[in-house]
Amino acid sequence: MTSLKLVGADATAHKLWGGRFSGDSAAALDALNRSIGVDFRLWPFDIRLSKAWAVALWSAGVLTVDESQRLERGLDGVAARFRAGTTPLPSDEDVHTMIDRLLHDEIGDLASKLHTGRSRNDQVATATRLWTMDACAALDASVRQLQRVLLDHAIALEAEGALMPAYTHMQRAQPVAAAHWMLAHFWPLERDRLRLSHTARSTATLPLGSGAIAGCAYPISRVLLQGSLGFSRLSPNSIDAVSDRDFVAELLFTVAMMAGHLSRLAEDLILYGTTEFGFVQFGDAYTTGSSMMPQKRNPDALELARGSGARMLGDLTALLATLKGLPSGYNKDLQDDKRALFDAVDTAQLVLPAVAGALAECTFRTDRMRDALSSSMMATDLADYLVLRGATFREAHASVGQLIRESEESGISLHALPFKSFTAAHTRFGPDVFEALSPAASVERRDIHGATGPTAVKEQIAAARSALS
Ligand code: ARG
Repeated sequence: MTSLKLVGADATAHKLWGGRFSGDSAAALDALNRSIGVDFRLWPFDIRLSKAWAVALWSAGVLTVDESQRLERGLDGVAARFRAGTTPLPSDEDVHTMIDRLLHDEIGDLASKLHTGRSRNDQVATATRLWTMDACAALDASVRQLQRVLLDHAIALEAEGALMPAYTHMQRAQPVAAAHWMLAHFWPLERDRLRLSHTARSTATLPLGSGAIAGCAYPISRVLLQGSLGFSRLSPNSIDAVSDRDFVAELLFTVAMMAGHLSRLAEDLILYGTTEFGFVQFGDAYTTGSSMMPQKRNPDALELARGSGARMLGDLTALLATLKGLPSGYNKDLQDDKRALFDAVDTAQLVLPAVAGALAECTFRTDRMRDALSSSMMATDLADYLVLRGATFREAHASVGQLIRESEESGISLHALPFKSFTAAHTRFGPDVFEALSPAASVERRDIHGATGPTAVKEQIAAARSALS
């Protein structure tokens, strides 16, 4: 049998495997296989679980207490090297290999005992879960900051009694309190935070002790590991445990959903910031100018928030596609989970503070909002007026339709039509009809829970406050 040999890799590479191989692996394989550029950041988590493993090996009678303690101290030394800025060697395949190499540097041959009964398969699954639990907490804090800005604006707009048009199909629909619109962006983020806490909870399943696939042959106390590493439960099946990336998919979905919410908020602000709308004025710190057009102030932060939603969504679909093709057990395809996970979380952590900052420095032109409230938006109120005076809704809808047609054809807005047009449209119209055409009255009438009325919005603000407290 012959085979064509391409150039091999660095013969001095520190490998966790290789005993059964007679030659070096190919440079092209090493380049493809090397994940340290992505997983380097797992080092604090890998060291934490490794220290817990050293203790578990002692309590299982595999290591003496002295060996276990020397391993722990060695791992502390490795952590200190990371904190001091040590960087990977070209031969470090992944973060686990790098830590193993540094541990050998620290304490010599004893380092080799740490890998007893464990595999990088249960190791990486555990480290990634620890990282993900941290990420959920950090994302929660960033989302809260943005919610705080939304709430502060809502409180100010409510105090001012600001009204604005609400749009359906991007057509002027009905008047609403501007605070109501602002809070319409608060509650989706609240649901995102709920999803983050669910994700953190389902991530807290400990895979350590699953070995490569069949579990560990030494009497390790997984309960002890669970307690010391802060997990809530043990994985019930080692085959499942080493390949379960549901928690990554859950966080990626949560992030993608949140990215959609941020994109929608950004889009509203961008649109309302156009000269045509003029409801929003952007500040200086989160906008850029044009090299050519001196008048420009471009909402780059918001556009990038909207745009990067595409990548966060891509990260979710990339992971789901990877998982979809796999048989049970660990497969190297899974190594790419971290690429998607880290990219999505990093992007969210760039976008969230930028959107919060850009929104914080927005000024709301409540005069422009009020000017946009045309009286045709009160058509539903006119129909309600007739219904309250005994007309059926269908009949009322037809009469108001007739008035709207007249208003459009004559170019006279609804509230400026002569009273006789109203009585011609329906006999139940009285002189108080012009009050029904006021945007403030329209908003005030909708005061049930969750609506835009003044009491309802005050209650909503109180609920938002307590959600953040
Ligand atoms: N770097 C690998 C990953 O992230 C670690 C697990 C490697 N396992 C193995 N059997 N080669 O998935």
